[in-house]
Amino acid sequence: MTLPQALAVELRGRSLLRTTDLAAAELEAILDLTDELKALPRCEHRPLEGMTLGLLFRKHSTRTRVSLAVAAAQLGATAIDLPGDQLQLARGETMDDTARVLSGYLDAIAVRTFAHEELERFEEMATIPVLNALTDEAHPLQALADVQTIRERLGGIEGVIVAWVGDGNNVCVSLAEACELLGASFVCASPEGYEPPGLPVVRDPREAVSGADVVVTDVWASMGQEEERAERLQAFAGYGVDTRLLALAHPDAIVLHCLPAHPGEEISADVLYGRRSAVWDASENRLHTAKALLALTLG
Ligand code: CP
Ligand code: NVA
Repeated sequence: MTLPQALAVELRGRSLLRTTDLAAAELEAILDLTDELKALPRCEHRPLEGMTLGLLFRKHSTRTRVSLAVAAAQLGATAIDLPGDQLQLARGETMDDTARVLSGYLDAIAVRTFAHEELERFEEMATIPVLNALTDEAHPLQALADVQTIRERLGGIEGVIVAWVGDGNNVCVSLAEACELLGASFVCASPEGYEPPGLPVVRDPREAVSGADVVVTDVWASMGQEEERAERLQAFAGYGVDTRLLALAHPDAIVLHCLPAHPGEEISADVLYGRRSAVWDASENRLHTAKALLALTLG
């Protein structure tokens, strides 16, 4: 297959901890390759035969874990599940030693954990590419699927207005960074105390959503914040994405949510399952973007 733009960038051997680890042309190359891979029969391009991807997860996951495992399999590689609670990590072996040891077996590793600094340290100690499968601060793999879905559904992303409503969390930060790289505007409405670090916000969700092409939200209590749930439900009252709020957006606006969702909290069920929802496309695009990223990182 010919991948002219993809070949013009050098992602081989690189880690991805934040969306901003990518240059705009590199992000575009991942999305262009995603388009190409989606158009091919699922196992026609197998550049990773004989390689092994580790999946070290210290938090729950459905989409990230399965999309990476299937992406690896379709590209010819093997994926190994490494649940954090079943490794010697859970008995006190350090992340440093784990990174050193696993680097001797694997060709790349995706890690989902709590503190972002822990992932950064793991990446320093590893000698193989490390992919951020979500930390408390960033979720770049989700951002790839979100911007891919925007490109597909709206015919492009440059100049598109993306409105985030709710918690300025890991998914918000990574999507905002991807939008900036690709020339989309990003507006965020968050209550006081829940703003994304370093990003300007408005308080009123109606102001953020007015005229937006894409409306995005996520849960109000992320993994690790379970004890703050009651307090957060109060803080985010009025920040739910429902048909009334969506009526203020562009008439052809689409809605994104990384999932899992809590219908009736941050998003109403009629919006989540309605005609403007691109949520399920984005969820499927987790697989296609993961394939493109793995092919470019390991191929
Ligand atoms: N969107 C997402 O990352 O889902 P999982 O937590 O199921 O991986
Ligand atoms: N913000 C959520 C995303 C889950 C995919 C969390 O971190 O739990």
